[in-house]
Amino acid sequence: MERKLDDLLQLAKEAREHSYAPYSNYRVGAALLTKDGRIYQGCNIENASYTPTVCAERTAFFKAIFDGVREFAAIAIIGSGVLPAFPCGVCRQVMSEFCDGDFIIVTSNAEGTEVVTETLDEMMPHRFGPKDLL
Ligand code: THU
Repeated sequence: MERKLDDLLQLAKEAREHSYAPYSNYRVGAALLTKDGRIYQGCNIENASYTPTVCAERTAFFKAIFDGVREFAAIAIIGSGVLPAFPCGVCRQVMSEFCDGDFIIVTSNAEGTEVVTETLDEMMPHRFGPKDLL
């Protein structure tokens, strides 16, 4: 699995090249692994009006969801700062909609010198999700 996550981080790094971040200059790439082995890449896409900005993680999720994918195993995220790029609350909520608690989130700083791996359960305990509306 560790090897797989390294490969996923490499694909996140490639995705970061596509980032459109002229306002923050903080570039983010993500690579989302589906349970059936497909990979969807995403980058952050900013906007002059600021609020329409979308994170790299959600770009990857929405591409996959459009394709009909509903089951996910892991996501790799790489930012362009000195600290690892932890997913924002909105992205965690999107993960909560589609992922189980054992979904793996691996995040890296720009240089790849600091890498943190956690599950969704660890990163967002007590989350609101589809089960709460049953
Ligand atoms: N951003 C992401 O794409 N993912 C994260 O995990 C954190 C933040 C983006 C949004 C915005 O374009 C820029 O980083 C600065 O917040």
